[in-house]
Amino acid sequence: MSDTELAVVEFVLTTLAYNERSDLDADDLPPGYRGPFWSEGRIERPLSATAETTGEATGVARPWEAISGLMFTDHDEFSGSLSFTDREMAEQWYLDRVDDERIERNPTLTAAFEDERDVDLDLARERNRPARADRAFIDALLDEYFDEDEEDEMLDLVEVRAPEEIEQTLADIVLTGEQEGEIQKIVKAIEHREYLASIGLREIGKLLFVGPPGTGKTSVARALARKLGLPFVEVKLSMITSQYLGETAKNVDKTFEVAKRLAPCILFIDEFDFVAKTRSSDEHAAIKRAVNTLLKSIDEVSLIQDEVLLIGATNHPDELDAAAWRRFDEIVNFPKPDAGMRADILEIVTREMDIVDFSPADLADITGGLTGSDLRLVLREAVLEALTEERTTLTQQDLIDAVEDFEERDTLKNLDMIEGDHDALVAGGDLSGDGGHSHDHSHD
Ligand SMILES: Nc1ncnc2c1ncn2[C@@H]1O[C@H](COP(=O)(O)OP(=O)(O)O)[C@@H](O)[C@H]1O
Ligand SMILES: [Mg+2]
Repeated sequence: MSDTELAVVEFVLTTLAYNERSDLDADDLPPGYRGPFWSEGRIERPLSATAETTGEATGVARPWEAISGLMFTDHDEFSGSLSFTDREMAEQWYLDRVDDERIERNPTLTAAFEDERDVDLDLARERNRPARADRAFIDALLDEYFDEDEEDEMLDLVEVRAPEEIEQTLADIVLTGEQEGEIQKIVKAIEHREYLASIGLREIGKLLFVGPPGTGKTSVARALARKLGLPFVEVKLSMITSQYLGETAKNVDKTFEVAKRLAPCILFIDEFDFVAKTRSSDEHAAIKRAVNTLLKSIDEVSLIQDEVLLIGATNHPDELDAAAWRRFDEIVNFPKPDAGMRADILEIVTREMDIVDFSPADLADITGGLTGSDLRLVLREAVLEALTEERTTLTQQDLIDAVEDFEERDTLKNLDMIEGDHDALVAGGDLSGDGGHSHDHSHD
């Protein structure tokens, strides 16, 4: 028996079981199996195991060849569909080769074999990522809510990621003790949300991440979505102004609708200081209306009722007003990393690199005031510098040089920015999201 043989039989058995049991739905299929069957945001019965669907679901290039040696298998030359001549034999063959844990990774098979094996359907369901977190479902939902000509604008304002599309992991981010504690709490709250609802505890699930650019706010929010297997809905508030004004409030509304339809999910609202700024300045009435809609929507959305975890983030806590603060029930501080954290970050960032005489602690000593994002940039520069000399092995000295270069450039940039206006500073902050460097000098 080969792995591919087992994989293909498992898939065909799943399609057969799924087609027979109307009590199962798309959530009961493993995410990989759903891929080939999505059509306009739905998965319709019957699922058929053709060479194509089987190939896509299992990653086996020639599914029929993989199972043609088994005596209970058959296939239709014309349609390419795979079948079993003796279903019972196929099931027995499969059950002889898998443990309970493997079955429980597939709720459909868990349901099918509950009598034969000591497997738990609830557990299998709990562990299986819901269909609403699939890219295909997310795309269909966005299509439904936003017309094609609105889509471009919407993409600026909202971006939805499926958990499998998120690269950041919590393991790659160095956290303070407080941050770890808050994350632990929220993970538990999500796990036990039914219990929290039952005891009437509803004021939970709205976090505000506060700290300078490049300290990991966006990364932690995304990594959390990945860890929990939840879709990640990201709103960039400054984009409200670039919207066609008449539609702005409506689009904010729709964003929350989308989040609720995707729930359980994480709704991440970046640049939250934008709210306060708009309320105090004499912005266009349509923008004010949009911001008011936003605040109202935030009040109405709930982790316990709607299964939407709301995370706000701001680089400018000093610009938030009371109305903004009181909407969050936990504030999580993202300080610039201390020496110990810097050493840990350097350790993580250089994991795959070859560095002679590497001493993260020594580097930490000379990088005071730098953020995680800054440290990444320093490393990148060192790597590129070495490449210009055709070297892929670095030395500690390369890193020290890169730190000095970085600080020099940073000083130049400061001079540049002091001459620029305040908006330029904010715009710089906007770019920080994906590792772009920007130093927020109003907080240095
Ligand atoms: N504490 C940290 N540990 C590891 N990497 C970090 C840390 N803080 C920032 N980074 C890295 O810096 C980059 C920018 O971080 P980001 O999450 O966008 O910051 P923010 O949203 O606070 O501006 C990311 O690549 C991130 O991995
Ligand atoms: Mg960010």
